[in-house]
Amino acid sequence: MTSTTTLSLLVSLLVLQALLSVPVVGFGEIPVMKTERCLLKSYPDGPLSPDNFEFDSKELTNEEDLPQDAIVVELKHVSVDPYMRTRFKPGMGYIMPGFELGKPIESACVAQVVASKNDKYKVGSLITGMMPWETTQVVKEPSFQPLPQLDGIPSSYFLGILGLTGLSAYLPFKHYAKDFLKAKEKPVVFVSGSAGAVGSVFAQLCKSIGCTVYGSAGTGDKIALCKSSLGCDDAFNYKDGIAAGLDGVLKDQTIDLYFDNVGGEMLDEVLVRMSMGGKIICCGSISGYETKDEDLYGVQNLFCVTTKRLQMQGFLLGQWGDELPQASQELGEMLAAKDIVAQETVLKGFDKVVEGLIGLFKGSNTGKMIITV
Ligand SMILES: NC(=O)c1ccc[n+]([C@@H]2O[C@H](COP(=O)([O-])OP(=O)(O)OC[C@H]3O[C@@H](n4cnc5c(N)ncnc54)[C@H](OP(=O)(O)O)[C@@H]3O)[C@@H](O)[C@H]2O)c1
Repeated sequence: MTSTTTLSLLVSLLVLQALLSVPVVGFGEIPVMKTERCLLKSYPDGPLSPDNFEFDSKELTNEEDLPQDAIVVELKHVSVDPYMRTRFKPGMGYIMPGFELGKPIESACVAQVVASKNDKYKVGSLITGMMPWETTQVVKEPSFQPLPQLDGIPSSYFLGILGLTGLSAYLPFKHYAKDFLKAKEKPVVFVSGSAGAVGSVFAQLCKSIGCTVYGSAGTGDKIALCKSSLGCDDAFNYKDGIAAGLDGVLKDQTIDLYFDNVGGEMLDEVLVRMSMGGKIICCGSISGYETKDEDLYGVQNLFCVTTKRLQMQGFLLGQWGDELPQASQELGEMLAAKDIVAQETVLKGFDKVVEGLIGLFKGSNTGKMIITV
């Protein structure tokens, strides 16, 4: 599908959706609604545990009409993401403030508008944005992104391959990797966390331009999937030994580009296996997110950056704010053309949000972890 076709399809769908949507209603006209919430009960002292969370439920009364501009939304899909782990402490984190005790956890979600006094948000339409973990919520000053409803594209994809995680692979690929790799004769790429949401997309993008791609993940099933459909020529289970695993896939080759999702010992072992003039894209460091500062792994081989004249390039997705819609459209076209595939692990039920979040640090997901409410 060309970009013009996709865009016109999108516009016609949005118009159709606006025409078909039911008239604006006040909260006072719809029945009393019950909402379930997931709150932070305590900060973890070590790995996250279910004991750090509590669920409650309450009724949203409809004594008053919905104020002008307000909407009522119901959560449809909840995203859990590794960066959230850095918010389980008080004060400002590296990107967002810490979660507050007694308040709902929040994350990127897809929700449906069920009542509206705001012309921008029609009843029945889907929206996405950061939302508290409350199944039904009144939003007085909504500033959400409306979502297109496209055939064959589940709305959860806007939290994964067409949202935060897909774009966290696509934009560093576009800006830091593509030209660098194309300038090499037989580029070798290594992606850690290659069965995960970001890693699986980055590996496929590198494969799509003819690189030799190696990956690593934490189970045999994930390794098989990386090799069969997620862009890897070979992959290894890092739990069976990192140095041996790297040597097993690389044989006599070195790594031109390393996309680092995990940090720690993996980064250390990769540094000594990099090519002269190679590049490391620092996406994340999940191996340390559940570790106390004083116990963090100390990388020992950083002198290789000097001796091999390496570049280390970090990024935070937000730096490309203006480019995100266009990038999402480009990824959507690759998806429609089957140049890349989306991988999701979906847990069903709001009560699974905690399991889903904790599961990220235990390797329970393949591809994007989503909780469908
Ligand atoms: N810079 C940015 O803007 C940005 C944006 C999004 C994400 N990120 C980063 O990208 C990385 C991947 O995020 P994602 O959303 O795609 O998550 P993900 O890979 O879908 O899920 C996390 C995976 O990490 C692996 N893992 C957990 N503990 C590990 C450990 N100690 N060592 C090695 N692997 C471990 C697990 O798989 P296994 O079975 O393989 O262990 C787990 O399934 C994270 O570091 C995240 O913080 C950065």
